Formats: sequence, C-alpha cells, structure tokens
Amino acid sequence: MNKIYIANDHTAIEMKNAIKNHLEKKGYEVIDLGNNDGNSCNYANIGITLAEAVVTDENNKGIALCGTGIGISIAANKVKGARAGLVYEVQTAELTRQHNNANILATGARLIAVDKALLLVDTFLNTEFEGGRHQERVGTLDEYNK
Ligand code: RB5
Repeated sequence: MNKIYIANDHTAIEMKNAIKNHLEKKGYEVIDLGNNDGNSCNYANIGITLAEAVVTDENNKGIALCGTGIGISIAANKVKGARAGLVYEVQTAELTRQHNNANILATGARLIAVDKALLLVDTFLNTEFEGGRHQERVGTLDEYNK
C-alpha cells in the first residue's frame, strides 16, 4: 500500500485524530489534509482535494469524514478515478472493497462512534478487491466521469 490520505470537515476532527493515531501506531503513512482548526468549512472542497490526492496512485487509499459522510463522499466521487464508499457498518466496509474496489472510505462522525470508525477503517484497509465479474463494472465507473 502506498499512502493513506485523510480529510474531514469541522464535525469530524476528533474522529480524524483517533483514526490517524490508530493507523500511525500500526505503521501506516497517513497524510492529513485537514480541517484542523474547527471552524465551519465546506465539505465539498475537502472531498475533492482528498480525492485528487488519492487518484495520483492506484495504491493510495483515502478516508473522508463529515457529519454524515454523505456530502464529502458525493464530492469525492466527482473526481475521475475516485470511488468513495459511504459506510456505517463493517459488512459494507468489506463489500465496498470486494465489489466496488473503493479507494476512499467515507463515514459520518455525527452518526457512528469513534471505536466503530476504527473498525470500519481496519476492515476497509485489510480487504482486497475481488476482481472477476466486478472488474468491468468498476471500469465503467472509472471511464464515465468525463
Ligand atoms: C455540516 O453541518 C454537515 O452538513 C456536514 O458535515 C455533512 O454532514 C454533509 O453531508
């Protein structure tokens, strides 16, 4: 794995810091793209910035956090080559890697506990894409957003 980029809006600083510490303890290189000042900010800019960083290398992964994870995942998915999966459960964190080859995990700091987020992140990073019948479908996603 290459780099893990992480980005958040003002609602998710505590969750972001917990994930970052958790991953750094495990030896991952984590690049924090903010927000860190806690001032109300625009999740759309943050999601796009994160996705643009992630798509520079196919081995990169991203973690996108806002209040619900919805806005930041919509923003990230505007970037060609970004596949952000919005998940709140371990099963979907696993499936979005296996079936969608998601390169960004999005979740909501106002909706799930920090411990749960750590579990989602571990699952996401430790699950491989299955390829096979999913390859063509993911290819269609990557080709379309022109
Ligand atoms: C911020 O209030 C909130 O709208 C944002 O964090 C996110 O939930 C948007 O989808």
